[in-house]
Amino acid sequence: VTTSRLRFLTAGESHGPMLCAVLEGMPAGMPLSPADIDPDLARRQGIGAVETPYRGASARMRLERDSAEIQAGVIAGETTGAPIAILVRNRDHERWKGKPIEPMTVPRPGHADLVGALKYGYNDLRPSLERASARETAARVAVGAVCRALLQQFDVRVESYVVEIGGVPAAVSELPLAERRARAALSPLCCPDPAASDLMAERLDELMKAGDTAGGVFEVAAFGLPPGLGSYVHWDRRLSARLAAAVLGIPGIVGFETGGGFSAAARPGTEVHGGLDLDDEARLARKNDGTGGMEGGVTNGEPLVLRVAMKPLSTTVRSRQSVDLTSGASSPTKYQRSDFCAVPRVAVVAEAMVCYVLADALLEKLGGDSLSEMKARFPALRRSRLEDLPMLGEPRVLWP
Ligand SMILES: Cc1cc2nc3c(=O)[nH]c(=O)nc-3n(C[C@H](O)[C@H](O)[C@H](O)COP(=O)(O)O)c2cc1C
Repeated sequence: VTTSRLRFLTAGESHGPMLCAVLEGMPAGMPLSPADIDPDLARRQGIGAVETPYRGASARMRLERDSAEIQAGVIAGETTGAPIAILVRNRDHERWKGKPIEPMTVPRPGHADLVGALKYGYNDLRPSLERASARETAARVAVGAVCRALLQQFDVRVESYVVEIGGVPAAVSELPLAERRARAALSPLCCPDPAASDLMAERLDELMKAGDTAGGVFEVAAFGLPPGLGSYVHWDRRLSARLAAAVLGIPGIVGFETGGGFSAAARPGTEVHGGLDLDDEARLARKNDGTGGMEGGVTNGEPLVLRVAMKPLSTTVRSRQSVDLTSGASSPTKYQRSDFCAVPRVAVVAEAMVCYVLADALLEKLGGDSLSEMKARFPALRRSRLEDLPMLGEPRVLWP
């Protein structure tokens, strides 16, 4: 995106020695240590949930405990404004190093195995898997955690919770948005609706027994954002579009909605777009806010809510038909250790990408090279209050 103040790159393979990320554009003077990053890395692994790891997570999650090593950009516990380099070691690597690895010649439908070989001309499918694997998302989560630390300096909070697994929906509309995450923390599938959580677990157990997998839907919510992040003046400045690109860039994500999303398309306008009124503090308050926190691709000061769909995982214990590329013979897919459902873990990756986009937009809005400059400017941002919106209230010639 041309407007970015922040940028990052990751490198690393699933079974190579490590993953690394370089994040550039963070302001100086922000306290940062691995303790800001490791809890999110653990959450991506499903660790710390009611059932650890989450129901449906694979054994690899028990094997690896990720930890971040900050290699650059932080001196004496504070960011310097220089690029931040973070390393996350692959503990699994020791079992691969120096050993001959079986060739992989049967592409798994739904994975990048075949397209990788077609695109890059590999003579073995392993390199496709090694980079396309979601292991790389640990590096994105590390970057997102640094961005979250910046957002926290401005009391912005980003959370997620699961609203559907394997076709079993949760009923969350009556539950206040701000309470959903705390309720989700009590569920083995990170779902704020306890009855639905039980049904989801049952459905998942059925699918696991049948050697199958489940997808699902989760929501990411951000609280405390000032109005005015993003812009409607050009397509690539719209915050909605930037969030969509960041979230759809996560492996396995197949759908993204803002505001009422696809369901709004079927409802009348007066129902989807509630009214505006002044509250007791002369703040513009919304009735049944259906905006999802953005209008015109710009934050409006209401909580930001995104809905995200994850497909059922492509690796299944029950084999599917494929072709062995060495012989052209029909061959069943070979199972490799994998989750049965990764929705609660993927939600953590989506939180990270949302934190990245929001931190970028906040930096764009506030400018500044240091946290202290940003903090000095933050209180001056216009809020949704009558006093912040002086109107001329007279006719004038617009195009003489
Ligand atoms: C955190 C996370 C964990 C994932 N775990 C698995 C898994 O255990 N098994 C699997 O088949 N796919 C898993 N995926 C999805 C695959 O990485 C993805 O489907 C595959 O790379 C192909 O990309 P595509 O689905 O975007 O086309 C996971 C994705 C994420 C973000």
